Amino acid sequence: MDKLLNIALIGGNSKIASAIIRLIEKETDWKLHVYSSSLKKTGNDRIIHKSVHYSDIKLLKEDFLESRPDFIINTAAMTNVDACEDLRQEAWSANVTFIEQLARLSLIVESHLIHFSTDYVFDGIKGPYSEQDHPNPISYYGKTKLAGENAVLKSHVNNTVLRTNVVYGLTNEHQQDFVQWVINNNESNTTMNIVDDQYSNPTLTDDLALSVKRVIEKKRCGVYHIGGNTYCSRLEFAQQIAKIFHLDENLFNPVKTDSLHQKAQRPLRGGLVNLKAHTDLNVQFCTIQEGLVRLRHQMHAIHQE
Ligand SMILES: NC(=O)c1ccc[n+]([C@@H]2O[C@H](COP(=O)([O-])OP(=O)(O)OC[C@H]3O[C@@H](n4cnc5c(N)ncnc54)[C@H](OP(=O)(O)O)[C@@H]3O)[C@@H](O)[C@H]2O)c1
Repeated sequence: MDKLLNIALIGGNSKIASAIIRLIEKETDWKLHVYSSSLKKTGNDRIIHKSVHYSDIKLLKEDFLESRPDFIINTAAMTNVDACEDLRQEAWSANVTFIEQLARLSLIVESHLIHFSTDYVFDGIKGPYSEQDHPNPISYYGKTKLAGENAVLKSHVNNTVLRTNVVYGLTNEHQQDFVQWVINNNESNTTMNIVDDQYSNPTLTDDLALSVKRVIEKKRCGVYHIGGNTYCSRLEFAQQIAKIFHLDENLFNPVKTDSLHQKAQRPLRGGLVNLKAHTDLNVQFCTIQEGLVRLRHQMHAIHQE
């Protein structure tokens, strides 16, 4: 690409955004405007952090009209699956209404919109799912995410929807993923109820960030399934975490999803077939063993700083 790219990233505090910022900072010369509800400092003048709440569409519009991003990446979402059952208006507003507005805004400023979605758009009866499989969400979160996808796909802008599942990677002090939850509970010697009947292919945030970079470089449109190379139960994932981080597996209490009586129904055989992304975006996705070893090295390097 000849021209220096200008990228806008919304939901700057999300786990996925952290990995995208790291990759763009390290491996590109692109200019990145990061929008999030709280302002962060950066030592790099190519990475500009802006304190704009995701819902402030007027402010976003003003800013986009000035910065004219080539690509807008949206990672902001209401991601608490159980809270979405209770706070339906808030969930719809964050996961659908905002996305409709963002799609319209992308059209005005002629940007390519890249949006994140989830395997929770499927019912979990026969996963892992390919891009050709028919969505059938069983939770309110899943329904809002599907409606958000449709808003993007039916818009008249260049667009890409990246579905992913069970995301893990380097987190900051305000973020928590499953790996961090297991490590923290191990440190406090707390017993963990872990389901052995929910299946997924956990996805390293670094692989997601690389997929985004490839979508931008190759200008790819449409739906892509981004998932790791190991299909396993949540308990098997926890056992691998214990192995790589030398944790106490005796703290794991295997349970069935039904016994947790959660507000939202979970897809049991979820997960995403990554063949299209692997082939077309040329991303070699990690197994959970590879991903966790890489994560352990990254955490070690940070402790050494
Ligand atoms: N994590 C997973 O396992 C997973 C799995 C499948 C799909 N996804 C999808 O991937 C995307 C990013 O996920 P993530 O786990 O990285 O996100 P996350 O860490 O939960 O962060 C989401 C971000 O969205 C904004 N946000 C928070 N609450 C919100 C609310 N009520 N309404 C609107 N925005 C809110 C915040 O951005 P600011 O603070 O920067 O404003 C927050 O940092 C989402 O679209 C999610 O659906 C995630």
